Amino acid sequence: MVGSGGREHALVRQLAQSPQEPVIFTGPGNPGTAEHGTNVDLDPMDADQVVAFCQEKAVDLVIIGPEDPLIDGLADQLHKEGIDTFGPGAMGARLEGDKEFAKEVLASAGVPTPHFHAFSSSSAALKHLDKIDLPVVIKACGAAQGKGVAVCANRQEAEDFIAECLDDQRFGGAGLRILIEDCIFGPELSVLIVTDGQDYCLLAPSRDHKRIGEGDTGPNTGGMGAFAPVALPDELYAEIDTRVVLPTLAELRRRDIPFRGVLYAGLMLTESGPQVLEFNCRFGDPETQVVLPLLRGDLLELCTSTAKGRLGQYLQGFSEGAEGMPADWEGAGVTRWDRQCVVVVGSADGYPGQYLKGKSIEMPAAGAEDRWIIHAGTAQSDKGLVTSGGRVLGAVGMGTDLNTAREAAYGLLADTHFEGLTYRRDIGAPGGK
Ligand code: GLY
Repeated sequence: MVGSGGREHALVRQLAQSPQEPVIFTGPGNPGTAEHGTNVDLDPMDADQVVAFCQEKAVDLVIIGPEDPLIDGLADQLHKEGIDTFGPGAMGARLEGDKEFAKEVLASAGVPTPHFHAFSSSSAALKHLDKIDLPVVIKACGAAQGKGVAVCANRQEAEDFIAECLDDQRFGGAGLRILIEDCIFGPELSVLIVTDGQDYCLLAPSRDHKRIGEGDTGPNTGGMGAFAPVALPDELYAEIDTRVVLPTLAELRRRDIPFRGVLYAGLMLTESGPQVLEFNCRFGDPETQVVLPLLRGDLLELCTSTAKGRLGQYLQGFSEGAEGMPADWEGAGVTRWDRQCVVVVGSADGYPGQYLKGKSIEMPAAGAEDRWIIHAGTAQSDKGLVTSGGRVLGAVGMGTDLNTAREAAYGLLADTHFEGLTYRRDIGAPGGK
């Protein structure tokens, strides 16, 4: 496993439950991944180092968690050496690394997405603002850890964000080109498409809560909590498949872009149907924390089959048609639909701005069947477990309904302590966004 966040801990925790009893190395990992295997001091951006380690240990499968090494071509390097890898090469990962390219793919595929213009100069971007209605959405074209997007309600906010990207270079190279997009409205939905380029299955639809504040207020974060499955109107399952997933995968094939991994479609469910806000080339974080526990079957086999290009064979083992299973959700059989899962992220006070690190963490010793902690920004130090990031941990709860799952997650957080612990109380709440 390549990576060190909550997503990687969630993946490793689930892989460790495989009947194949895998030996798991995580580079560099976190204290959570260390509970299920061995952390290795690897730099995900150093492809030579990762390849050499995999060769030394005769690693059978590499799963790449974060976007940066994917965009940088780590999967290509591993393939070149004949190492099975879950995660697309640089061509596929460009869907996340270059939002203008993703828009071009969407346009060719005829997939609905907000109308946009792209700019590299702030004067041209400001002139464009004179011609359009507000609010607008402004995005850094490159990958900026989920922080390169601003919904600007007024001209001042738009001017400030344009200056941050293009003049102050707050996001480095990722923000040197921006998209100014129409603002569309509706609930968001995260759809994780596991594909080997030919066959695919859709994991449980989930909803992230991206803003820091309750009621979806304040700045965007990497994600403050999520729940799954999101119940959708019957016709929407088919509409997402036919209007978004099928044409996108067909367009990737038409362009000879191989893709073996997860294509994450960030959707907005508007009155006129689903529209794609963004693509990511990896599992969502924190969506992974709620989608994986709902899987039926062996995650390791799912990932291995995908990496080897025989996902279709794997999917044959899953029957459709059980109670609660949507008929038109491709690969619905891989998910349990009789459970709900919620994750609430505990963050450091000040996140997504400045925050302190090194605060001692107390948490319940072991997880129960229906609740467990996922480590994200934690580290071991001489004073024990301490905070080391903005999103520190995720409390996961599972139950037969959303309320029970929420009670489990929030119950766990009530027993978890560190100075500055902050979390939203409306994750998965009725009517919550
Ligand atoms: N939860 C948003 C993301 O993974 O990009």
